This record gives sequence, structure tokens and C-alpha cells, in this order.
Amino acid sequence: MSTAPRPNRPVPRAGVLAIEAYVPGKSQGGPGVKVHKLSANENPLGPSPKAVAAFQSANALELYPDGSSTKLREAIAAQYGLDPTRIVCGTGSDELLMLTAAAFAGPGDEVLYSQHGFLVYRIAALAAGATPVVAPEKDYRSDVDALLAAVTEKTRVVFLANPNNPTGTYLPFDEVKRLQRGLPPYVLLALDAAYAEYVRRNDYEAGIELVATCSNVVMLRTFSKIYGLAALRVGWLYGPAEVADAINRIRGAFNVSAPGLAAAVAAIEDTAHVEQAVAHNETWLPWLAQELTALGLTVTPSVTNFLLVHFPPTPGRTAKEADAFLSQRGLILRRVDSYGLPDALRVTIGTEEANRLLVEALKAFMGGEAGHGA
Ligand SMILES: Cc1ncc(COP(=O)(O)O)c(C=O)c1O
Repeated sequence: MSTAPRPNRPVPRAGVLAIEAYVPGKSQGGPGVKVHKLSANENPLGPSPKAVAAFQSANALELYPDGSSTKLREAIAAQYGLDPTRIVCGTGSDELLMLTAAAFAGPGDEVLYSQHGFLVYRIAALAAGATPVVAPEKDYRSDVDALLAAVTEKTRVVFLANPNNPTGTYLPFDEVKRLQRGLPPYVLLALDAAYAEYVRRNDYEAGIELVATCSNVVMLRTFSKIYGLAALRVGWLYGPAEVADAINRIRGAFNVSAPGLAAAVAAIEDTAHVEQAVAHNETWLPWLAQELTALGLTVTPSVTNFLLVHFPPTPGRTAKEADAFLSQRGLILRRVDSYGLPDALRVTIGTEEANRLLVEALKAFMGGEAGHGA
């Protein structure tokens, strides 16, 4: 046995200590003010009442849930015309992102994603012991050429949020297909379509078609956004049978809770509620983008339920100062410094009340007409 000195306590692997823990959006404002949380891309309409009822009736708390999430996989399969055996449900899509990296990449491998890609990709890569590799973006959009140029023989997983958080931009189906075609067959393309239901573009495809035709593509979805069930932590993955099998082997045996499963089944069946959420977003996303642009702010075109808003560097008008100003008024936005975007804030499309309050507050912050035409 080696006589090299040993630490006197357990020490995590080096990769673990390189992780900066995910910092969620804030949820508190100034004292005594009504809070409008616009920092986590949650559904301002809340969940379907049918999902709430299903959640409440799943009250046999002493029993383990169905570890195979059978009813939920069947409900998802029926909704989208999929093979339920190739669906894996998870504790939010976060868990499935982590498991995807853990199952397909390890020490010495690379996990690739785009410059402003969702923060969990880096965490998932490092937690798996792999090396995160970042490809530059153009105009806050994933760049297929840059991603392909960053592929090496060590690449094992490519994460693509489509549409992406925090930018709100998307890649058309042709571009996603071009990315898949350019990847070696042993590289897994993980399409994270957390905001797919919000996208109203004819040239967008969430991933179902690509999974159907390729053996190296998975799609990840969530019940946290349009279904309004973020508290329950339910997500799903659809992929080739071999990928589903690998992920099933390493996931927690009872990873999705019984109330989560029950609520998600009811939510996916309540298509009217989803349509209502889409209609709300279709009304307020363009309205907010237009109002903020009229204040002299730059807004990245978004197909999601949030906007990336860029502030000027002028003292008194910066993103940091805007965030403090808005927080005092109960309007909680998301700082995106950790995404390399210190001059921007991300705002979720909220209720009508919250959206109007935000525009009024930003008008005051920008000095009324002062920002016009800047
Ligand atoms: C792009 C993207 N993927 C995945 C997730 C994770 O969602 P959840 O773990 O709640 O399913 C989020 C949440 O913000 C996201 O923005």
C-alpha cells in the first residue's frame, strides 16, 4: 500500500469542486410590497385545475410511487404518438440532463454546448467527471458551424436547448438536422425542449421527428413551464431504446413522486389549459417586447415565455441598477451574469398586472422619454 499522505477527511473528486452551484432566480422583493416573480419562467396562469385536483387526491403518502411512471409515460405517448417504452420520466428535466451526461460521458470525455446555453449543462458535465466545452454564439443564437467545429474525438454529448434559456432564441429544424448530420454517430445530441410548447414557428421541431429517424438523438421535456407544475419536479426524455435503457439503469428507482405523476397525467390531458397559456403568452410576449423596445431597451427576439432585455452601460441605467429598482417594487427579474450576460436581465411573461407594472416601473427607471431612440 502507498505511504503517500492521505487527507484526514473525505474529499470530493476534483470535478465536483469545480462546479459553481446553480443559483435559482430570486423570489423576494422589498418589504411589504406585492411580489411578482418573473425570474424563473413559471406559468403565470398556474397549473390546470384538473392537475391540482389529481395532486390532491394522490394522498396515500405512505406508499412508494410507481417506479416506472407507467401511467405518465402512457399519457405522454398517447398525446404525442410515441412509443412509451422509449420514454423515461425524471425529477424535472434537470435530473434527466444530469443522467444523460452521467450515462454517456465520463473522465477524459467532452460535453459540448453553446455559449449562453442553460447552466445545468456545465454542472452535468462536471458532475459526470467530463470536460465542458463551449461553442461561441452569434447574436445570442446557437451557431451550428461553431458547435460542429468544437467537436473532437473526445466529444460524447452535445446539449442544445431549443429554444434556449436565457436567450429565448431558437434554431429552425433544418439547422438542428444539419447539426445532427455533422456529428459522429457515437455523439449523443440531447435536444432540451423545455419551452417547446410556447414556440409558434412553422420551421421549429422540438425533437420528436429527429428522435424517430436518428439513433443518436434524445429530446427532453418538462412539466415545469407551460404545465405550471415546477414545484412537483417532473420531466421526461424520449430517445432510442438503448438510451432509455442506459438512463433507466442509473436513475433513482422511485424518482418521480406519486403526486407528481398524478398531476402530470391530468396536466397533459388538459389541452385546453395549455392552449390558454399559449394564448396568454401570444398576447403578452409581443406586447412586452414592443413596450420595452419603445423605452430604448434592446430585446432579443424570443419564441418562449421570457425575454432577454439588454440595458445600457450608462450609470443609473444598468441592468444591476434596474434589478435593484424593480426588486424594491416587487418585480423580481433574473440577473444573468452567470450566463456571461451582466448587462441583461431575463424577464418571464407574467400576468397582465405584472406585465403592465413592469413597463410602468421601467418607464420610471429609464427616465420617461429619456431612453427613447437611444
Ligand atoms: C432550458 C431548460 N432546460 C431545463 C430546465 C429544467 O427544468 P425542470 O428541471 O424544472 O424540468 C429549465 C428550467 O429553467 C430550462 O430553462
